[in-house]
Amino acid sequence: MQNELAHRLARLRTALGSHQIDAALVGPSADFRYLTGHPASESERLTVLVVPCEGECTLLVPELESPKFTDFPFGRLDRWRDGDDPIDLLARRLLDLDARTIGVNDQFRAGFLLPLQERLTGRRFARISPLIQELRIVKSPAELSLLREAIARVDAAWARFCAEGRLVGRTERQVARQLSEFLLEEGLDEVAFCIVASGPNAASPHHEPGDRIIQDGDPVVIDIGGPYQGYYADMTRTPVAGTIRDPDFAAAYEAVLEAQQAAFAAMRPGVPCEEVDRIARDVLATHGLAEAFTHRLGHGLGLSVHEPPYLVRGNRAPLCPGMVVTDEPGVYLPGRWGVRIEDVVVITEEGAERLTRSPHDLLALP
Ligand code: GLY
Ligand code: MN
Ligand code: MN
Repeated sequence: MQNELAHRLARLRTALGSHQIDAALVGPSADFRYLTGHPASESERLTVLVVPCEGECTLLVPELESPKFTDFPFGRLDRWRDGDDPIDLLARRLLDLDARTIGVNDQFRAGFLLPLQERLTGRRFARISPLIQELRIVKSPAELSLLREAIARVDAAWARFCAEGRLVGRTERQVARQLSEFLLEEGLDEVAFCIVASGPNAASPHHEPGDRIIQDGDPVVIDIGGPYQGYYADMTRTPVAGTIRDPDFAAAYEAVLEAQQAAFAAMRPGVPCEEVDRIARDVLATHGLAEAFTHRLGHGLGLSVHEPPYLVRGNRAPLCPGMVVTDEPGVYLPGRWGVRIEDVVVITEEGAERLTRSPHDLLALP
């Protein structure tokens, strides 16, 4: 792991150098975890990794958080105490480094950035998240094995739910609680999201589970996931509660599955991200459902649940081996129901491999 972290840092420095950025400030975020190997919580107390283009890094942390970082191998661990002015400490460090152009990642809070800019007049500030995202976009073998683990755990939780769970007569919230328990028992670090959207609620792609009692015949969009050792799984299935009654729903389900499979079949290195989105959309258009597909086809997945590459109109960047993306077309008919089917896919040298193993067939659950 130490070698991998050193390699990531070296690549970041190269990117900073080629963009004439003298030092980078990385606040608590997936970027921070990617570069330090540690999670850090976002809070009103300043925690920041300072990466100069050359020279040793500084990890500036609140003293009470510092025991977690004593193994930081790439430079100084500077602690500040409640009552100190951490912005002043950071500004002095940047002055020592003679940083004229300072990069900040998106999660470096405005509440820290604005006073820092007041303190360092005449310095140029630049957004560096796109540079870090470029580093993160292709997964290493170690990252891929953690993603596989995360996804296998979600598959296992879903298999348990299919065997033991009930939908009819339970509230969305009760179903979400049971699924969350299964996800934790299978070993996810936490449940990051557990959408259970039944009947008309399923027409809202990111519905919050509520007190609606699931009725016999309701389609139920279930979108579950969370991290394993920081790396996210994300999966959606749309079973029907009880009996499949609505032939329109069954037809839309088959159309979404056809779109999902067509997009998967098109995924290989060199294909533009927007192209796979278009392929899924074209399939839905042949079924008269293009307007009902209201979001992009997919997103990258790694230390964040949504990260580049985005499979969306306008993204001409090509897919590359080692990218991990979701394939998740959906159809949403307000007032009626919705359907989404979501797998995680890794782009390989030859094409693509589906990491999600849960079956796709339309399922009726009691
Ligand atoms: N669940 C679809 C998206 O957020 O892209
Ligand atoms: Mn999802
Ligand atoms: Mn997703």
